[in-house]
Amino acid sequence: MTASTSATSQFPSVLVTASGSYLPEKILTNDDLSKMMDTSDEWIRQRSGIRQRHIIGDDELTSDMAVNAARNALDMAGLSVDAIDGIIVATTTPDDTFPSTASTVQKKLGAFNAFAFDIQAVCAGFVYALDTADAMIKAGKARKMLIIGAEAFSRILDWTDRGTAVLFGDGAGAVVLEADDNAPDWGILSSVIFTDGRFRDILYVDGGPSRGHVGTVKMSGQDVFKHAVEKLAHCLDAAIEASGKSVSEIDWLVPHQANLRIINMLQKKLNMPDERVVRTVDRHANTSAASIPLAFDEVMRKDMISAGDIVAFEGIGGGLAWGAAIARIGKP
Ligand code: UT7
Repeated sequence: MTASTSATSQFPSVLVTASGSYLPEKILTNDDLSKMMDTSDEWIRQRSGIRQRHIIGDDELTSDMAVNAARNALDMAGLSVDAIDGIIVATTTPDDTFPSTASTVQKKLGAFNAFAFDIQAVCAGFVYALDTADAMIKAGKARKMLIIGAEAFSRILDWTDRGTAVLFGDGAGAVVLEADDNAPDWGILSSVIFTDGRFRDILYVDGGPSRGHVGTVKMSGQDVFKHAVEKLAHCLDAAIEASGKSVSEIDWLVPHQANLRIINMLQKKLNMPDERVVRTVDRHANTSAASIPLAFDEVMRKDMISAGDIVAFEGIGGGLAWGAAIARIGKP
C-alpha cells in the first residue's frame, strides 16, 4: 500500500481553473438492455441507481472523446493549446497498446509544447492523475496541465454478463490545472492515493497485450462494494486531514459514479446536504476514469460551484486502486 500527500506553501498552488466534458451521442437505456439480456430497469435502478448510459460511436475512439473534453476545458479556461505544457490522460481503454492515448490527444489538439502520458488506475485514474500533476507542477516540471479521464468501457464489456454489462458507460471529462505562486490555500490542498494488489482478482479484465487477447471486465460486485464503502471513507478522511480543513468546510462531494448506494453512504458520512453531492450515475453510469471530471463539469457548467468552494473528489476501482483529493476551486 502506498500513500502520498501534498499540502504545503513553499511550492506554487495548483489551481483547478476550468473543466470540460464529452458524452457520445448514442444512449442505451435500461429498457434497451432488458431486450438484450435477462435484466430489468427496476433491478438496475434499485441496485445501482443507473437509468441509462452513453455508448461510443462505431467510428469514435477514446482519444476523440478526450480531445472534445479537453477543447471544452481549454475554452472555459480561456487558454490556447500552446499554453499547455503537460497532458495526462487517465484511461483503461486506450486507442492502441502504444503510443499512449495522451500522445494521440496531443497530436489531435496540436498541443506540441506539452509532454503527454497515460495513467492506468481504472476508476481511480482521475484522482491518480490529479495527484501526479499536482506533484509535477509543485516540483516545477510544468505550469499548466490538462488532466483528462476518458473511457470506452463498452468496448471491454462482456455483453452476455448481466452482472457487469449494465453498469458501465463511455465518456470523457477534463480539467485545467494552473500554477500560481501567490495563491496560498487555493487549488489542490491535498491528495492521497492507495493501492492493494491483493484484491486484483475482484475486479479485472481477463486479457491484455501479454496475454494475446483484449479480454472483458470481470467483477465480484459485492466484494468491490464492501471495499468501496470502507476504503473511500478512509481515504476521504485522510485527504481532508491532509488538507488542514475540517469535514464541515467541504462544500461539495464529487464522487466516482459507480453506484448510488455507495455515494449515499459517503454523503451520510460527510453529513452533506443532497444538493452538495454531485450525482450523474443515473445518466452516465460508471464511466471509470471519466466519471469524476464528467460529474465535476456538470456542476461547473451550471455555475453551481463558486470560486473558493472546497471540493472533495474520490474514486476506487480495479487494482484495487483508490484515492481522494481536496481542492479549493478557481482563482483568488
Ligand atoms: O468502479 C469500480 C467500483 N465498482 C463498484 O463500486 C461496483 C460495486 N458493486 C456494486 O455496485 C453492486 O454489487 C452491484 C450493482 C454490482 C450488484 O448489486 P448487489 O446488490 O451486490 O447484487 P448481487 O451481485 O448480490 O446480485 C443479486 C442478484 C443475484 O441473483 P441471486 O443470486 O440472488 O438469485 C444476481 O444474479 O441479482 C442478480 N443479478 C441481476 N439481476 C438482474 C446480477 N446482475 C443482474 C442484472 N439484472 N443486471
